[in-house]
Amino acid sequence: MNKKKIIIDCDPGVDDAVALLYAFKDPLIEIELITSVSGNVNVDKTTTNAIGIARLANHKVKIVKGANRPLINEPLFAEEIHGVSGLGTYQFKDVDLSVHENDDVVKALYETIMNSKEKIYLVPIGPFTNIAKLLMLHPEVKENIEAISIMGGGIKGGNVNVAGEFNVLVDPEAAHVMFNSGIPIIMAGLDVTEKSLLYPKDLKIIQEFGEVGKFIKQIIESNPRPKIDDSLLQLNDVVSIMAISNPEIFTSKDMFVDVEYGGRFSRGWTLGDQRRANYQVANTKVILDLDHSKFIELLTERLREYE
Ligand code: BDR
Ligand code: CA
Repeated sequence: MNKKKIIIDCDPGVDDAVALLYAFKDPLIEIELITSVSGNVNVDKTTTNAIGIARLANHKVKIVKGANRPLINEPLFAEEIHGVSGLGTYQFKDVDLSVHENDDVVKALYETIMNSKEKIYLVPIGPFTNIAKLLMLHPEVKENIEAISIMGGGIKGGNVNVAGEFNVLVDPEAAHVMFNSGIPIIMAGLDVTEKSLLYPKDLKIIQEFGEVGKFIKQIIESNPRPKIDDSLLQLNDVVSIMAISNPEIFTSKDMFVDVEYGGRFSRGWTLGDQRRANYQVANTKVILDLDHSKFIELLTERLREYE
């Protein structure tokens, strides 16, 4: 079976961490490269976390440090959701970032995409700064990208404010470049990810899966995210990975989506054209729903491999 080749661009982040751990064990995908970006916490922390998570999972993969700030905005973090380290109170020790000082994320993305025999899927699950830089500097990469499966936005609105979802709001100009690149986008926005909930009964099972299980328990139980119902976590970023390997568990609608980067209240809003007539040609598969029990079953079965 041909595995789909993917690049994960991430800002771990509690849900990014679970997404990476899931992705390492998904038999239908192969991770060619992981890149980090400033997002939930600063890029030194997101890079440390990505390296630490791969090490914990004993998964060998190239990791490259990415942008330390959005294109135009000042950096915006989400420590009140993910904790100061990005992973609740968990802190990876002995990660040597000095070897990543001169990392060139655009070059790494460019070379990985252009050297791939098969078309690549990009999976950005943090702000879209690295992706926008790549597309602006090397538009020729589009030829070898199958699709971009993002976690970001929400046709229904945002989570940081009424309009803006975090990954888009942090760098709306970058998101605009990506949505207008002509590459097909698969959008796991809040419309679906608010349904990607992990409950205590699920964690009870997952926490038994060896050191990885203990790690997941700790980062979930120690993150300061305000609890709004009886769920423990929204697994936002996991949706974008599964959307590549298990698209049949999701329901989506094709629409044209663009990003508001001006606006008084609406900067960072992903607006979807849902008109019944005169609508613009779709550029995005907007995921709207998921089969929740299949989603949790897939996640649990893959994570069980860390037992
Ligand atoms: C997104 O923002 C981050 O806080 C999460 O990791 C996720 O990628 C949700 O809005
Ligand atoms: Ca993320």
